Amino acid sequence: MANLIKRIKSKDVHIAVVGLGYVGLPLAVEFASAGLRTTGIDVNAEKVQQVNDGGSYVPDVPGERIKALVADGLLSATTDYSVLKDVDCVSVCVPTPLRKTKDPDISYILDAADGIARMLHKDMLIVLESTTYPGTTEEVFLPRISSNGLEVGKDVFVAFSPERVDPGNKTWQTRNTPKVIGGVTERCAEVATALYQHAVEEIVPVSSATVAEMVKLLENTFRMVNIGLVNEMALICDRLGVNVWEVVEAAATKPFGFMKFTPGPGLGGHCIPIDPLYLSWKMKELKYTARFIELASEINANMPRYVVGRITEALNAHGKPMKGSKILIIGAAYKPDVDDARESPALDIITLLASSDCRVSYHDPYVPRLSNETWELESESDLMAAVRAADCVVIVTNHSDYDWPQVAKEASLLVDTRNALAGIPLDEKKVFGL
Ligand SMILES: NC(=O)c1ccc[n+]([C@@H]2O[C@H](COP(=O)([O-])OP(=O)(O)OC[C@H]3O[C@@H](n4cnc5c(N)ncnc54)[C@H](O)[C@@H]3O)[C@@H](O)[C@H]2O)c1
Repeated sequence: MANLIKRIKSKDVHIAVVGLGYVGLPLAVEFASAGLRTTGIDVNAEKVQQVNDGGSYVPDVPGERIKALVADGLLSATTDYSVLKDVDCVSVCVPTPLRKTKDPDISYILDAADGIARMLHKDMLIVLESTTYPGTTEEVFLPRISSNGLEVGKDVFVAFSPERVDPGNKTWQTRNTPKVIGGVTERCAEVATALYQHAVEEIVPVSSATVAEMVKLLENTFRMVNIGLVNEMALICDRLGVNVWEVVEAAATKPFGFMKFTPGPGLGGHCIPIDPLYLSWKMKELKYTARFIELASEINANMPRYVVGRITEALNAHGKPMKGSKILIIGAAYKPDVDDARESPALDIITLLASSDCRVSYHDPYVPRLSNETWELESESDLMAAVRAADCVVIVTNHSDYDWPQVAKEASLLVDTRNALAGIPLDEKKVFGL
């Protein structure tokens, strides 16, 4: 171990990042930028090719940065796990989605573990970063990789360190966001800390891998539950005839004891709608119902249906039926200024509208195509022409480059789920909020 730490400190190590997505690519770039020879491993040959060509497919990572690192011989990518025979430290950033049944799908973690196990050798550090249920690292990941007699904490080192990347966040990125690390043993944590100190400014050590797994789930459950709470406030305010946005803004002036969350059309992305369900699934195994998670999940999951209800009301107020009406969705990504439409509420809203025989289209400059099992759409190329043609325009994502005053002027009817039109003088009869 002393030898591995010494080599990590002197940057005489070869790093691999498994899974070059929204999390893995920025991490690989940070390691390489710190002067550590870094190889990305991904099953997606197109991504691998793009990295090796010096290009980026993650908006937060500029292509020029990758290009320079590839040219300097610090960053490369491959689909071939056999590169691990020369690698000292591996970070695993593969997806952790849900199955159709809403149970955790850790098959990507298991595949990555099998790939690593085949190449496992002495003096190797493996850090799992993918969000998962407490116990995965020690009970599932570790037995899968360490079957060839190497002792954990002495010959090989295993830790969990949750990724906290927030795509599109210009202030908090991989380097300046504190990183929690929990080792399977104390020595595992020491080795992992030595590595991440090169890429991240502040390390937060915790006593075990399971604690580190639980930290991530607390963080994401906190967001999910608070979003569920404010979404319920939106439903309550609607019944009271009160503007929920005005209530939230005024409450947020309290300088202590309140944290602002805003209502919206539902949860999206690869984290907040999914990760807490990993925890509630685990708790079911232990015969405990994680009630806050179940409740918030239910409220958030019903928001798209509520939005469709608002669209129905809006059309009705203008004497139009749902059937046959042209509905334009503005914004398909799950949050502003990102290209990620995974789990986006736009998907559910479109599906519900299509099942009511509406003629649905969408516009999102970041998301050129959108589909689910029953439909496939391409983003409308001319936003204002689509706005003029629509019977109702629905604002789902508040990208910062949309010209809302122009949209508000040209649309005949609007449902604004993001308060994007706040401050714009409007004909109240043509705008419906949440
Ligand atoms: N996206 C976020 O904002 C975010 C934030 C924090 C944590 N996380 C967590 O990080 C993990 C990764 O998320 P992401 O958004 O980067 O996912 P992603 O889908 O963008 O990237 C995952 C990558 O892993 C690759 N992959 C899949 N199986 C593989 C295998 N067996 N070997 C090698 N590569 C493989 C995929 O091709 C893909 O490129 C998830 O557990 C997620 O919950 C994501």
